[in-house]
Amino acid sequence: MEHKKIIVAIDGHSSSGKSTISKQLAASLGYKYIDTGAMYRAVTLYALRKGFINNKAVDKDKLIQVLPEIDIRFRYNPETKKTDTYLNGENIEDEIRALEVSNNVSQVATIKEVRMAMVKKQQEMGKERGIVMDGRDIGTVVFPDAELKIFLTASTKVRAQRRYDELKAKGLDVSFDEILKNIEERDHIDSTRKESPLIKADDAIVLDNSNMIPEEQNKWLLKKVEEVKNAH
Ligand code: DC
Repeated sequence: MEHKKIIVAIDGHSSSGKSTISKQLAASLGYKYIDTGAMYRAVTLYALRKGFINNKAVDKDKLIQVLPEIDIRFRYNPETKKTDTYLNGENIEDEIRALEVSNNVSQVATIKEVRMAMVKKQQEMGKERGIVMDGRDIGTVVFPDAELKIFLTASTKVRAQRRYDELKAKGLDVSFDEILKNIEERDHIDSTRKESPLIKADDAIVLDNSNMIPEEQNKWLLKKVEEVKNAH
């Protein structure tokens, strides 16, 4: 059935290139792209601004209390051809990529109530299908019924180099070692946390893109989408 819209769930490690290939795939298919990491980052930024995070310790009770105040939306910017993240009407796309947010987001993402609120929003966003959603628990928790599940990974060094290049290109002053440490730390927290740890869904396909350019990955993914559509 040519017209059938599916859900593509892309999970994987930090900086494995999930957002790059998810955006590309969504554009190729004419689907919506949803970056769930940006949602956890937005909550983290809100908590930082409120002063609820000190030395990586999150005041969980205070944050849970203000969760209903947090409105997160995605808006496509036709000028930059990119989707920006909005927190209560403010464009926070750049701010949520800064190291202060990266260094605290894993802690925020371990909070059960935060996850429940985000998962609910994500399920609403995917109601109509026709989406590519990337994160850590999309194939396992958010959309266990997704027609195509991908588990993306790459070596730690390759991932650190990618994040380093990305931040340098934005003019940020960062050190490679600091980024490598941040990625290793986040891998550990993401994979060992009690709430929805990063694990491969049984029916997810592993894609190690250490030696692949985005175009190759997109071609590979488009083929998988076709296979899935033909099988349904
Ligand atoms: O993909 P990212 O680096 O922007 O994600 C930021 C953090 O949010 C990362 O530490 C893991 C967490 N996260 C999560 O727990 N669940 C998701 N679905 C997406 C991200």
